[in-house]
Amino acid sequence: MPRTLSLMLLITAIAVIICVAACKKHDKAVAAAKVLSPSKLKWIIPDTSEITDPEEARLIRYGRNLIANTSYYFGPKGVIAHKSNGLNCQNCHLNAGTKLDGNNFSLTAVGYPRFKERIGAVETIEKRVESCFERSLNGSHINSNSYEMKAFVTYLKWIGKNVKKGTKPAGSGIEELAFLDRPADTAIGRAVYVSKCQVCHGKNGEGLLNASGTAYTYPPLWGEHSYNIGASIYRLSKFAGFVKHNMPYNADKSAQLTTDQAWDVAAFVNSQPHPYKNIDADWPKMDTKPYDYPFGPYADNLFSKDQRKYGPFGPIKKHYLGLGKK
Ligand code: HEC
Ligand code: HEC
Repeated sequence: MPRTLSLMLLITAIAVIICVAACKKHDKAVAAAKVLSPSKLKWIIPDTSEITDPEEARLIRYGRNLIANTSYYFGPKGVIAHKSNGLNCQNCHLNAGTKLDGNNFSLTAVGYPRFKERIGAVETIEKRVESCFERSLNGSHINSNSYEMKAFVTYLKWIGKNVKKGTKPAGSGIEELAFLDRPADTAIGRAVYVSKCQVCHGKNGEGLLNASGTAYTYPPLWGEHSYNIGASIYRLSKFAGFVKHNMPYNADKSAQLTTDQAWDVAAFVNSQPHPYKNIDADWPKMDTKPYDYPFGPYADNLFSKDQRKYGPFGPIKKHYLGLGKK
């Protein structure tokens, strides 16, 4: 009798082990599938020839022009007003926000208005445009009832009009790169900058103005004319994801950065001085601050300020995912 019992126990134990192993394998397979299957959905950019309303066509063309040549209209020598630091929206939203993996606007039309934790309120497209004026362009926002704002918004809604809510075309926005398991390294980043970026962006990150001084041929990356500390690209994940796919500008594939170089050069550039902005009111709920948000106070005291700025970010993200937060 006891022999039969122990045999049964043994069989049960083996069955449990096999089942657990299978489940683990299954979980791993599911996790891998999630990582390995980026969206295959293609973003269909609308064709201007399909616009029938002449006023709408005018607004869309003007909106695109404002995004491509923002400084001409609103820069330090702007023909409409002086509202910004001389950057063009297009410097960071490549090809007027139509380039895949170039911080494009594919999801803007369907994405707004929506509740944004950063401001603790519903954000409209107008507010989002204002926010890039105030942060990325380190300026003041333009009148939200102006013809120009109408043009920005008409363009943004039009460019994303073929995207359905709840879908995400391939190459949308900025890719979140794989995390490093070490802090991003500003010293290595400096070397990457000198060898791969300085030729255009300058020894001191100051960029290069065009001959008439109305816009940058190469935009600045730090210093008084750059984006301020409240800009999204001041976060390492956004900077690294953007430059990995797009810098050095017009580079052929072989000259692109490795993931490590992208994180390290992000750490170097964002450790250089950027204009100050009072951002005390941002992220009113501390536990919704992004894993790479370098300004406290924080909802936990588990990770240092340095780790929030330079990583490694994996443990921070894991901690907040565990609490049901991003
Ligand atoms: C061949 C010249 C060139 C090189 C080299 C280059 N860039 Fe750029 N970069 C540009 C241009 C031009 C733009 C603006 C693109 C546009 O407006 O279409 C730009 C835009 C940017 C922007 C966004 C705008 C801003 O000023 O914040 C960042 C960030 C950036 N580059 C980082 C880098 C980094 C990091 C490197 C090196 C890894 C690099 N670039 C190498 C030419 C270059
Ligand atoms: C220095 C870089 C930079 C410049 C210049 C810039 N932006 Fe942005 N913008 C960003 C980053 C980074 C994001 C956040 C992207 C993300 O979270 O994935 C963003 C987000 C946006 C979004 C939201 C996109 C979405 O679908 O959620 C809009 C709209 C936008 N910017 C418009 C503008 C406009 C209009 C201008 C010019 C007035 C401008 N931006 C200039 C970097 C920049």
